[in-house]
Amino acid sequence: MVVLEDVEPCRQAVRESQQQGGIVGLVPTMGALHEAHLLLIRTARKRCSYVAVTIFVNPTQFGPNEDFDKYPRTLETDLSACEAAGVDLVFTPSVETMYPAGSQTNIHVSGVTEGLCGAWRPGHFDGVATVVAKLFNILPADLAFFGEKDYQQMVVIRRMARDLNIPTVIVPCPTVREADGLAMSSRNAYLSAEERKQAASLSRALFAARKSIQTGEYDAAKITGAIRKEILAAGPVDIEYVDIVNADTLEVVKSVDRPVRICLAVRIGPCRLIDNVAAGAGK
Ligand code: PAJ
Repeated sequence: MVVLEDVEPCRQAVRESQQQGGIVGLVPTMGALHEAHLLLIRTARKRCSYVAVTIFVNPTQFGPNEDFDKYPRTLETDLSACEAAGVDLVFTPSVETMYPAGSQTNIHVSGVTEGLCGAWRPGHFDGVATVVAKLFNILPADLAFFGEKDYQQMVVIRRMARDLNIPTVIVPCPTVREADGLAMSSRNAYLSAEERKQAASLSRALFAARKSIQTGEYDAAKITGAIRKEILAAGPVDIEYVDIVNADTLEVVKSVDRPVRICLAVRIGPCRLIDNVAAGAGK
Protein backbone atom coordinates (compact mmCIF):
# COMPACT_ATOMS: atom_id res chain seq x y z
CA MET A 1 0.00 0.00 0.00
CA VAL A 2 1.36 3.42 -0.91
CA VAL A 3 0.42 6.56 1.00
CA LEU A 4 0.64 9.68 -1.19
CA GLU A 5 0.22 13.36 -0.38
CA ASP A 6 0.78 14.78 -3.86
CA VAL A 7 -1.38 14.85 -6.97
CA GLU A 8 0.94 13.70 -9.76
CA PRO A 9 1.95 10.29 -8.32
CA CYS A 10 -1.77 9.51 -7.82
CA ARG A 11 -2.50 10.15 -11.50
CA GLN A 12 0.48 8.01 -12.46
CA ALA A 13 -0.60 5.09 -10.28
CA VAL A 14 -4.12 5.12 -11.77
CA ARG A 15 -2.80 5.45 -15.32
CA GLU A 16 -0.37 2.55 -14.86
CA SER A 17 -3.05 0.30 -13.45
CA GLN A 18 -5.48 1.14 -16.27
CA GLN A 19 -2.76 0.66 -18.93
CA GLN A 20 -2.29 -2.87 -17.58
CA GLY A 21 -6.00 -3.47 -18.10
CA GLY A 22 -6.95 -2.99 -14.44
CA ILE A 23 -10.23 -1.61 -13.08
CA VAL A 24 -9.57 1.20 -10.60
CA GLY A 25 -11.95 1.83 -7.69
CA LEU A 26 -12.08 5.01 -5.61
CA VAL A 27 -13.47 5.38 -2.06
CA PRO A 28 -13.48 9.04 -0.94
CA THR A 29 -13.62 9.55 2.85
CA MET A 30 -12.88 12.08 5.55
CA GLY A 31 -11.12 9.42 7.66
CA ALA A 32 -12.13 8.32 11.18
CA LEU A 33 -12.87 5.07 9.37
CA HIS A 34 -15.52 2.76 10.82
CA GLU A 35 -17.18 -0.46 9.72
CA ALA A 36 -19.32 1.32 7.06
CA HIS A 37 -16.26 2.83 5.37
CA LEU A 38 -14.62 -0.59 5.46
CA LEU A 39 -17.63 -2.12 3.76
CA LEU A 40 -17.28 0.41 0.92
CA ILE A 41 -13.61 -0.51 0.69
CA ARG A 42 -14.38 -4.24 0.68
CA THR A 43 -17.00 -3.74 -2.04
CA ALA A 44 -14.42 -1.83 -4.08
CA ARG A 45 -11.87 -4.60 -3.41
CA LYS A 46 -14.29 -7.20 -4.82
CA ARG A 47 -15.12 -5.23 -7.96
CA CYS A 48 -11.78 -3.63 -8.80
CA SER A 49 -8.19 -4.71 -9.32
CA TYR A 50 -6.76 -1.49 -7.84
CA VAL A 51 -8.36 0.32 -4.88
CA ALA A 52 -7.62 3.93 -3.92
CA VAL A 53 -8.97 5.50 -0.72
CA THR A 54 -8.82 9.24 -0.04
CA ILE A 55 -8.68 10.66 3.48
CA PHE A 56 -9.27 14.41 3.55
CA VAL A 57 -11.35 16.44 6.00
CA ASN A 58 -12.65 18.93 3.46
CA PRO A 59 -12.96 22.41 5.01
CA THR A 60 -15.20 23.80 2.25
CA GLN A 61 -18.12 21.50 3.08
CA PHE A 62 -18.31 22.57 6.75
CA GLY A 63 -20.38 25.64 7.69
CA PRO A 64 -18.92 28.32 10.00
CA ASN A 65 -20.67 26.82 13.06
CA GLU A 66 -20.01 23.19 12.16
CA ASP A 67 -17.42 20.80 13.55
CA PHE A 68 -14.46 21.12 11.12
CA ASP A 69 -11.92 21.71 13.90
CA LYS A 70 -13.42 19.01 16.13
CA TYR A 71 -13.88 16.42 13.35
CA PRO A 72 -12.07 13.24 14.52
CA ARG A 73 -8.66 12.72 12.89
CA THR A 74 -7.25 9.21 13.37
CA LEU A 75 -4.79 8.83 10.48
CA GLU A 76 -2.57 6.10 11.94
CA THR A 77 -5.45 3.71 12.74
CA ASP A 78 -7.11 4.59 9.42
CA LEU A 79 -3.97 3.63 7.51
CA SER A 80 -3.70 0.31 9.39
CA ALA A 81 -7.36 -0.44 8.60
CA CYS A 82 -6.78 0.35 4.91
CA GLU A 83 -3.71 -1.85 4.82
CA ALA A 84 -5.61 -4.73 6.46
CA ALA A 85 -8.46 -4.31 3.95
CA GLY A 86 -6.06 -4.67 1.03
CA VAL A 87 -6.13 -1.05 -0.20
CA ASP A 88 -3.48 -0.26 -2.84
CA LEU A 89 -3.22 3.53 -2.47
CA VAL A 90 -4.25 6.08 0.16
CA PHE A 91 -4.27 9.76 -0.78
CA THR A 92 -3.89 12.04 2.27
CA PRO A 93 -3.48 15.55 0.84
CA SER A 94 -3.01 18.72 2.87
CA VAL A 95 -5.54 21.55 2.62
CA GLU A 96 -2.92 23.53 0.63
CA THR A 97 -2.57 20.69 -1.90
CA MET A 98 -6.32 20.50 -2.45
CA TYR A 99 -6.92 24.26 -2.35
CA PRO A 100 -3.79 26.08 -3.53
CA ALA A 101 -3.93 29.81 -2.83
CA GLY A 102 -5.82 31.62 -5.55
CA SER A 103 -8.39 28.86 -6.33
CA GLN A 104 -11.39 30.56 -7.90
CA THR A 105 -13.52 27.66 -9.11
CA ASN A 106 -16.46 26.15 -7.32
CA ILE A 107 -18.95 23.53 -8.51
CA HIS A 108 -22.60 24.22 -7.82
CA VAL A 109 -25.18 21.53 -8.58
CA SER A 110 -28.69 23.01 -8.54
CA GLY A 111 -32.04 21.17 -8.25
CA VAL A 112 -31.09 18.12 -6.21
CA THR A 113 -29.19 20.28 -3.67
CA GLU A 114 -32.14 22.53 -2.87
CA GLY A 115 -34.16 20.41 -0.42
CA LEU A 116 -33.32 18.07 2.48
CA CYS A 117 -29.84 18.81 3.96
CA GLY A 118 -29.15 21.40 1.24
CA ALA A 119 -31.83 23.65 2.73
CA TRP A 120 -30.25 23.44 6.18
CA ARG A 121 -26.55 23.54 5.29
CA PRO A 122 -26.02 26.39 2.80
CA GLY A 123 -22.93 25.84 0.66
CA HIS A 124 -22.37 22.30 1.96
CA PHE A 125 -22.99 20.53 -1.35
CA ASP A 126 -20.88 23.08 -3.28
CA GLY A 127 -18.00 22.02 -1.03
CA VAL A 128 -18.77 18.32 -1.52
CA ALA A 129 -19.21 18.59 -5.32
CA THR A 130 -16.05 20.65 -5.72
CA VAL A 131 -13.83 18.36 -3.64
CA VAL A 132 -15.20 15.19 -5.22
CA ALA A 133 -14.75 16.60 -8.76
CA LYS A 134 -11.14 17.38 -7.82
CA LEU A 135 -10.65 13.86 -6.42
CA PHE A 136 -12.08 12.41 -9.67
CA ASN A 137 -9.50 14.43 -11.61
CA ILE A 138 -6.63 13.46 -9.32
CA LEU A 139 -7.62 9.75 -9.21
CA PRO A 140 -9.58 9.17 -12.46
CA ALA A 141 -11.04 5.86 -11.34
CA ASP A 142 -13.37 3.61 -13.31
CA LEU A 143 -15.75 3.19 -10.36
CA ALA A 144 -16.33 5.34 -7.26
CA PHE A 145 -18.18 4.02 -4.20
CA PHE A 146 -20.55 6.15 -2.09
CA GLY A 147 -22.79 5.20 0.85
CA GLU A 148 -26.58 5.56 0.69
CA LYS A 149 -26.48 6.78 4.30
CA ASP A 150 -25.70 10.15 2.67
CA TYR A 151 -28.32 9.61 -0.02
CA GLN A 152 -28.55 13.24 -1.15
CA GLN A 153 -24.75 13.42 -1.42
CA MET A 154 -24.72 10.32 -3.65
CA VAL A 155 -27.45 11.79 -5.88
CA VAL A 156 -25.63 15.16 -6.09
CA ILE A 157 -22.39 13.44 -7.12
CA ARG A 158 -24.16 11.22 -9.64
CA ARG A 159 -25.87 14.30 -11.14
CA MET A 160 -22.56 16.18 -11.29
CA ALA A 161 -20.79 13.24 -12.95
CA ARG A 162 -23.53 13.01 -15.59
CA ASP A 163 -23.70 16.76 -16.18
CA LEU A 164 -19.92 17.21 -16.47
CA ASN A 165 -19.31 14.03 -18.53
CA ILE A 166 -17.09 12.61 -15.80
CA PRO A 167 -16.43 9.02 -16.94
CA THR A 168 -16.22 7.55 -13.42
CA VAL A 169 -19.26 5.36 -12.65
CA ILE A 170 -20.91 6.10 -9.28
CA VAL A 171 -21.70 2.94 -7.31
CA PRO A 172 -24.19 3.41 -4.42
CA CYS A 173 -23.66 1.09 -1.42
CA PRO A 174 -26.28 0.24 1.25
CA THR A 175 -26.33 1.95 4.65
CA VAL A 176 -24.47 0.04 7.37
CA ARG A 177 -26.20 0.06 10.76
CA GLU A 178 -25.44 -0.68 14.41
CA ALA A 179 -27.26 -3.63 16.02
CA ASP A 180 -30.13 -1.33 17.14
CA GLY A 181 -30.54 0.12 13.64
CA LEU A 182 -28.69 3.42 14.10
CA ALA A 183 -26.82 4.30 10.90
CA MET A 184 -23.07 4.19 11.56
CA SER A 185 -21.36 7.56 11.74
CA SER A 186 -18.14 8.84 13.28
CA ARG A 187 -20.31 11.39 15.10
CA ASN A 188 -22.29 8.70 17.01
CA ALA A 189 -19.41 8.55 19.50
CA TYR A 190 -20.46 11.98 20.84
CA LEU A 191 -23.88 10.70 22.01
CA SER A 192 -24.49 9.97 25.71
CA ALA A 193 -26.11 6.64 26.65
CA GLU A 194 -29.54 8.33 26.90
CA GLU A 195 -29.10 10.15 23.55
CA ARG A 196 -27.92 6.94 21.95
CA LYS A 197 -31.21 5.31 22.99
CA GLN A 198 -33.18 8.24 21.53
CA ALA A 199 -31.15 7.99 18.31
CA ALA A 200 -32.39 4.43 17.74
CA SER A 201 -35.88 5.90 17.18
CA LEU A 202 -34.79 7.34 13.80
CA SER A 203 -34.32 4.04 11.99
CA ARG A 204 -37.19 2.46 13.94
CA ALA A 205 -39.53 5.18 12.66
CA LEU A 206 -38.20 4.89 9.10
CA PHE A 207 -38.63 1.11 9.01
CA ALA A 208 -42.15 1.42 10.43
CA ALA A 209 -42.94 3.99 7.72
CA ARG A 210 -41.69 1.65 5.01
CA LYS A 211 -43.87 -1.08 6.44
CA SER A 212 -46.93 1.19 6.47
CA ILE A 213 -46.32 1.94 2.77
CA GLN A 214 -46.05 -1.78 2.04
CA THR A 215 -49.45 -2.26 3.66
CA GLY A 216 -51.13 0.47 1.62
CA GLU A 217 -50.53 3.90 3.22
CA TYR A 218 -49.59 6.31 0.41
CA ASP A 219 -50.33 9.68 2.01
CA ALA A 220 -46.92 11.33 2.54
CA ALA A 221 -48.19 13.80 5.17
CA LYS A 222 -49.66 10.95 7.26
CA ILE A 223 -46.47 8.89 6.94
CA THR A 224 -44.13 11.76 7.90
CA GLY A 225 -46.49 12.69 10.74
CA ALA A 226 -46.19 9.18 12.17
CA ILE A 227 -42.40 9.31 11.86
CA ARG A 228 -42.23 12.63 13.74
CA LYS A 229 -44.49 11.26 16.46
CA GLU A 230 -42.39 8.16 16.99
CA ILE A 231 -39.14 10.15 17.16
CA LEU A 232 -40.55 12.76 19.57
CA ALA A 233 -41.90 9.96 21.78
CA ALA A 234 -38.27 8.85 22.33
CA GLY A 235 -37.20 12.16 23.86
CA PRO A 236 -36.88 15.93 23.49
CA VAL A 237 -35.07 15.98 20.15
CA ASP A 238 -35.01 18.65 17.47
CA ILE A 239 -36.32 17.43 14.10
CA GLU A 240 -34.91 19.43 11.16
CA TYR A 241 -36.86 17.69 8.43
CA VAL A 242 -38.72 14.50 7.56
CA ASP A 243 -39.44 14.35 3.82
CA ILE A 244 -40.53 11.76 1.31
CA VAL A 245 -38.84 12.49 -2.01
CA ASN A 246 -38.69 11.11 -5.52
CA ALA A 247 -35.66 8.77 -5.38
CA ASP A 248 -34.08 10.28 -8.53
CA THR A 249 -34.97 13.99 -8.49
CA LEU A 250 -35.28 14.41 -4.69
CA GLU A 251 -38.48 16.42 -5.23
CA VAL A 252 -40.93 16.14 -2.34
CA VAL A 253 -43.90 13.89 -3.16
CA LYS A 254 -47.39 14.10 -1.70
CA SER A 255 -48.27 10.52 -2.50
CA VAL A 256 -46.05 7.43 -2.60
CA ASP A 257 -46.91 6.34 -6.14
CA ARG A 258 -43.32 5.74 -7.33
CA PRO A 259 -39.93 4.72 -5.88
CA VAL A 260 -39.21 7.17 -3.07
CA ARG A 261 -36.67 7.84 -0.38
CA ILE A 262 -37.83 8.74 3.11
CA CYS A 263 -35.19 11.09 4.49
CA LEU A 264 -34.72 12.82 7.83
CA ALA A 265 -32.30 14.92 9.85
CA VAL A 266 -32.56 15.22 13.62
CA ARG A 267 -30.44 16.98 16.21
CA ILE A 268 -29.83 14.92 19.32
CA GLY A 269 -27.53 16.40 21.96
CA PRO A 270 -24.32 17.51 20.23
CA CYS A 271 -25.05 15.59 17.02
CA ARG A 272 -26.92 16.18 13.83
CA LEU A 273 -27.97 12.73 12.63
CA ILE A 274 -29.29 11.85 9.18
CA ASP A 275 -30.89 8.67 7.90
CA ASN A 276 -33.07 7.46 5.04
CA VAL A 277 -34.71 4.34 3.59
CA ALA A 278 -36.01 3.34 0.18
CA ALA A 279 -39.75 2.73 -0.13
CA GLY A 280 -42.54 2.50 -2.68
CA ALA A 281 -42.76 0.46 -5.89
CA GLY A 282 -42.19 -2.89 -4.25
CA LYS A 283 -39.40 -1.85 -1.81
P1 PAJ B 1 -17.43 10.45 5.12
O1 PAJ B 1 -18.46 10.99 6.03
O2 PAJ B 1 -16.10 10.04 5.70
O3 PAJ B 1 -18.04 9.24 4.33
C1 PAJ B 1 -17.28 8.56 3.36
C2 PAJ B 1 -18.21 7.59 2.64
O4 PAJ B 1 -18.69 6.63 3.59
C3 PAJ B 1 -19.43 8.29 2.03
O5 PAJ B 1 -19.71 7.73 0.76
C4 PAJ B 1 -20.53 7.95 3.03
O6 PAJ B 1 -21.83 7.93 2.46
C5 PAJ B 1 -20.10 6.55 3.46
N1 PAJ B 1 -20.71 6.20 4.75
C6 PAJ B 1 -20.56 6.80 5.97
N2 PAJ B 1 -21.34 6.20 6.91
C7 PAJ B 1 -22.01 5.20 6.26
C8 PAJ B 1 -22.96 4.21 6.66
N3 PAJ B 1 -23.38 4.12 7.92
N4 PAJ B 1 -23.41 3.34 5.72
C9 PAJ B 1 -22.98 3.41 4.43
N5 PAJ B 1 -22.09 4.33 3.99
C10 PAJ B 1 -21.60 5.20 4.89
O7 PAJ B 1 -19.11 11.62 2.95
C11 PAJ B 1 -18.00 12.10 3.13
O8 PAJ B 1 -17.08 11.55 3.98
C12 PAJ B 1 -17.52 13.35 2.41
O9 PAJ B 1 -18.61 14.20 2.19
C13 PAJ B 1 -16.78 13.06 1.08
C14 PAJ B 1 -17.67 12.34 0.06
C15 PAJ B 1 -15.51 12.22 1.35
C16 PAJ B 1 -16.32 14.41 0.43
O10 PAJ B 1 -15.53 15.14 1.29
